Amino acid sequence: MESHASGSGGESPAAAAERLEEQRIRRLGPLASVELTTGARLAPMPAKPTLVDFFERRFGAVANHCLQSAERARVNGAKEETVFACLIHDTGMTLRRPDHGFWAEALYRPYVSERVAFAVRHHQSLRFFPAPEYGYEYPEIYVQLFGADYVPEPYIQAEYDRARNHPWYEDAMQLVVNDDYSFDPDARPSLEPFIDVIGRHFQQPPEGLGWDPSPSSFMWRTLMDPSRPL
Ligand SMILES: [Fe+2]
Ligand SMILES: [Fe+2]
Repeated sequence: MESHASGSGGESPAAAAERLEEQRIRRLGPLASVELTTGARLAPMPAKPTLVDFFERRFGAVANHCLQSAERARVNGAKEETVFACLIHDTGMTLRRPDHGFWAEALYRPYVSERVAFAVRHHQSLRFFPAPEYGYEYPEIYVQLFGADYVPEPYIQAEYDRARNHPWYEDAMQLVVNDDYSFDPDARPSLEPFIDVIGRHFQQPPEGLGWDPSPSSFMWRTLMDPSRPL
C-alpha cells in the first residue's frame, strides 16, 4: 500500500490533489486568495456585499472555473440546485486551499440548502473514487502522481463511505461529473446567466455578507480584506 504522505514534497496525496486543482485554475487567470493577494490590490467592496460582489471582486480565476462548471451542468441538463452547487463549489479555495470542500461548506452552510452544502463538501473526496454509473473515472493524473495502488487517506475514505451511503450522494456526484472538464483557458464565461440562479438558491443577508450574525460571517470578512492586521 502507498504511504499516505507519498505526494510531491512530502505532502499528502489529498493535499497534492488540491494543489493540482489550484494550478489548473491558475491557468485561467490570476487567483485572488488569502495566500496570494494583499488587500491593497483588491477592489473595494460595497457597504452591503452580495455573493455577486464576491464573484466579481474576490474570486478571481476560481470564478471562471466555477462558471465553466455551472455552464456544463446546465448544458448537461442538471437540476438548478446542482447548477448552483457547481457555481460555488471551489470558491472556498480563495479562503484556504487545503480541504477546500470543507471550507466552502462552512462558508456557505448558513445561506444554502443542506443538499448544496453536502455536495460542495463531498466533491473534494469523491473525485478519488470512480463511479461508473455516473461515467466518472478515476483521474489518470492521480495514477501518475500517486501510483496505481494508492489508497486515499482514512478521512477521505470515511468521507466517501458516508457520502456513498447517503441519499444525497447523487447531488454530490452530479457536481463531480460537471467539475473535472471545466478548465478551458480560453473560456470567458459570464456570471449574468446565473444571477437568477443565485437569487433562488442563495439567501443573501440584508446586512451584507460579512456584516450579518451568521457563523461564517467572519470568513466573508476575511475574504473582503485578507490583509487586515487583526
Ligand atoms: Fe474542488
Ligand atoms: Fe472544481
